[in-house]
Amino acid sequence: MKVVLISRSKEKLDKVASEIREKYQVETKVIVADFGETEDTYTRIKAGLEGLEIGVLVNNVGISYAYPEYFLDVPDLDKTIDQMTNINILSVCKMTRLVLPGMLERSKGVVLNIASAAGMYPTPLLTLYSATKAFVDFFSRGLQAEYKSKGIIVQSVLPYYVATKMSKIRKPTFDKPSPEMYVRAALGTVGLQSRTSGCIPHALIGWIFSFLPTSTAINFLMKKNKQIRARHMKKMKEN
Ligand SMILES: NC(=O)c1ccc[n+]([C@@H]2O[C@H](COP(=O)([O-])OP(=O)(O)OC[C@H]3O[C@@H](n4cnc5c(N)ncnc54)[C@H](OP(=O)(O)O)[C@@H]3O)[C@@H](O)[C@H]2O)c1
Repeated sequence: MKVVLISRSKEKLDKVASEIREKYQVETKVIVADFGETEDTYTRIKAGLEGLEIGVLVNNVGISYAYPEYFLDVPDLDKTIDQMTNINILSVCKMTRLVLPGMLERSKGVVLNIASAAGMYPTPLLTLYSATKAFVDFFSRGLQAEYKSKGIIVQSVLPYYVATKMSKIRKPTFDKPSPEMYVRAALGTVGLQSRTSGCIPHALIGWIFSFLPTSTAINFLMKKNKQIRARHMKKMKEN
């Protein structure tokens, strides 16, 4: 498939686009857009996508906290609220709004929305992030019910940890896979599962969690995130 990459850093976009072009011999296009901003962003994306038949939309862009924190103590809280809701929520709605009409005309299309396991339960100390991802999960599930009969697949993807810049995990392990391993597994579920953990290790963790009463899961996550926060604070003091 031809690929359009949309993100904010032109240099990184060009690098990935040329890697894809060389490796897969397909056409690529890049659109520079900051999803943290709302003015003009979607008008420019719309113009960039003009005339293209979009078969698959992947809503992947997302930001989280730098470390787990109590809501009112999140650094630069007002800016974080705006950025996180714009990037994690608004982008999913707006991109779907731009691309879905064409898919409906052709009676086929796939929308892959990257939520998070953090959206399956309220996750204390990542409260805003967790709530934005619950939105993505609900939005995807509602949309799938609305458009399934029209030939559209909408999938809600709910990963646990993946070794990326966001998670700050450098070395992939069985339960914290590399992005390549995770995406390969997750793509195998498209059309089979409308809501997925994406890979077997994450499905297993999800299965174990499913036995816990919600209050127990929330208490467990609070305890775990308090520990991560304490480690972060200690490290900051030492530096
Ligand atoms: N990693 C995990 O453990 C994990 C777990 C569950 C869910 N997720 C979800 O998976 C998705 C991908 O996460 P990731 O771990 O790959 O994160 P990442 O390593 O931080 O990558 C995020 C990507 O989004 C781009 N981006 C960030 N802010 C942007 C903005 N304002 N405008 C345009 N592009 C922007 C980044 O571009 P730059 O490189 O220019 O910053 C980067 O390409 C997110 O939705 C995340 O919530 C991740």
